[in-house]
Amino acid sequence: EMMKDVLGLSSLENKLKEKFNLNRVIVVSGNSDESPWVKKEMGRACVTCIKERLIGKNIVAVTGGTTLAAVAEMMTPDSKNREILFVPARGGLGETVENQANTICAKMAVRASGIYRLLHVPDQLSKDAYESIIEEPSIKELLAIVKSSSMVVHGIGDAKTMAERRKTPEADFQKIHNGNAVAEAFGYYFDQEGDIVHKVKTVGIQLDDIEEVPNVIAVAGGASKAKAIQAYMKQALDSVLITDEGAANELIRD
Ligand code: G3H
Repeated sequence: EMMKDVLGLSSLENKLKEKFNLNRVIVVSGNSDESPWVKKEMGRACVTCIKERLIGKNIVAVTGGTTLAAVAEMMTPDSKNREILFVPARGGLGETVENQANTICAKMAVRASGIYRLLHVPDQLSKDAYESIIEEPSIKELLAIVKSSSMVVHGIGDAKTMAERRKTPEADFQKIHNGNAVAEAFGYYFDQEGDIVHKVKTVGIQLDDIEEVPNVIAVAGGASKAKAIQAYMKQALDSVLITDEGAANELIRD
């Protein structure tokens, strides 16, 4: 904590707490746009945060992305030996394997010496396929577990970056573009006001379900994500934000 004061990070944390009405903010030093190790530091801070917030029924839902992959990389076994079940928050969003929630979830569980369950649902389902797949007994059972998560850990992305990185169908891409989306989180795209512009149709936790989850941790950094973080935070009831100085300095500006 003393080190943090020297670096001015706790003052940044307090300013962000106030601005976005959050109960906990962690700012790590550096800008992850420029230095890859900063993402790992956010990952380390996130692991500490996850462990602090385990409340008994430890079902931790995780999203995909490179930031969550860094969280998985920094995960360590729980010193109190509590059993933790990791699940993906939502089904496929068109990411490559290393950025998929399933992959990250499994990796995190192995590093935590915990257990995991995966969601085997294809991306970009048609309405009919979606409706029949959620009635499959094995999927139904798992979705009930996912929805009962005690914690959700998710990334926040820049809308355009995410739409391009995922195999977004042209019509959806246009919708995201025309709706002036700036932020993305767990397959939802938001405009500057935090209103939903587009949602990827997939199973698992939906935005409305997030309100029922006792602990929600958002991890996102880099000055290039400031706009996205700001927009997402407008509608989020996140209990925790983990970010870096690069993003934080931009966020406290206006
Ligand atoms: O789900 C993806 C996140 O919203 C952002 O991904 O951590 O690779 O920037 P990222």
